[in-house]
Amino acid sequence: KDEPLVLGIESSCDETGVGIVRGHTLLADALASSVDEHARFGGVVPEVASRAHLQALVPTLHRALDEAGVTLADIDAIAVTAGPGLAGALLVGVAGAKGLALAAEKPIYGVNHLAAHVAVDTLEHGPLPEPAIALLVSGGHSSLLRVDDLARGVTPLGATIDDAAGEAFDKVARLLGMPFPGGPPIDKAARNGDPLAITFPRGLTAPKDLVEHRFDFSFSGLKTAVARWVEARERSGEPVPVDDVAASFQDAVCDVLTMKAIDACRTQGIDTLVIGGGVAANSRLKAMAAERAAKYGITVRVPRPKLCTDNGAMVAALGAHLVAAGNAPSKLDFPADSAMP
Ligand code: KG4
Ligand code: ZN
Repeated sequence: KDEPLVLGIESSCDETGVGIVRGHTLLADALASSVDEHARFGGVVPEVASRAHLQALVPTLHRALDEAGVTLADIDAIAVTAGPGLAGALLVGVAGAKGLALAAEKPIYGVNHLAAHVAVDTLEHGPLPEPAIALLVSGGHSSLLRVDDLARGVTPLGATIDDAAGEAFDKVARLLGMPFPGGPPIDKAARNGDPLAITFPRGLTAPKDLVEHRFDFSFSGLKTAVARWVEARERSGEPVPVDDVAASFQDAVCDVLTMKAIDACRTQGIDTLVIGGGVAANSRLKAMAAERAAKYGITVRVPRPKLCTDNGAMVAALGAHLVAAGNAPSKLDFPADSAMP
């Protein structure tokens, strides 16, 4: 086949990922995670993540090549996350990818992590209709983007002004005594809880906020409200209804995320919504988005959970898209940019 065979490397946070794709076909998605090493700190520790990437990168690369049944010589191009992310963590992937590109004489593409979260959907559902709206929700970012031409980048419409959605899940889980990362246990507990049991605040949805922050998010007030509610319960000596708190908190997050994502689609006349990032694995978010989108004839695309969380395949998917679009490779001196927009 003449579709490009692309190897992608991801190291922006706590996952070392090496993926291999041919066009829109996923051939390998090898992953090593340092999540367990961060668990006792309740969040990712940059220094620990960087060291773990350094240890994991080469073994993960070999696993990906084995899984795909190809050698480095077969690869047409290498793509790597150049930002945004943790500076030290990014440097490991970028330096590693540059070394490979130099040694194997391959073109290299330094790519944007958020655009890669969007591109990964093409591995599940084929080419992305453009324009599309993308909702990216993870432990590190919560953004609404407009995608007119993925090969040229994505346009931010809004983002969180404080905590990321996944961060809110992690912090609320912690105060409910659940393990890190908190998304999965909250999702699970919420299934046995009543989402209407407690009314938690919906950040940046008041009419005055919608003027300046129409497509922005805020989750730190919600997190504080949950903490206050749980504290009051504990002081009263009554048991904390963990399942109800989880369900009510989760609904508050999903309500705002889907409301603003659908609003972006409607006001911009766009009928494709793609959701990505670790929080896109949330069962309630998917159900609520599908239900609300259906009312307006909007198609929702959510890749399978393993592709939603950070991985190398998403970087390879974007790389393949850039190669197919005829984009020029990056110059070998491109920087790792932790604050890349
Ligand atoms: O994309 P990701 O793997 O890494 C970052 O770039 O942050 O996202 C991880 C985040 C964590 O905050 C985790 O709690 C959240 O995604 N997450 C979930 C679920 N699964 C993972 N949040 C809500 N519901 C889930 N089922
Ligand atoms: Zn991510």
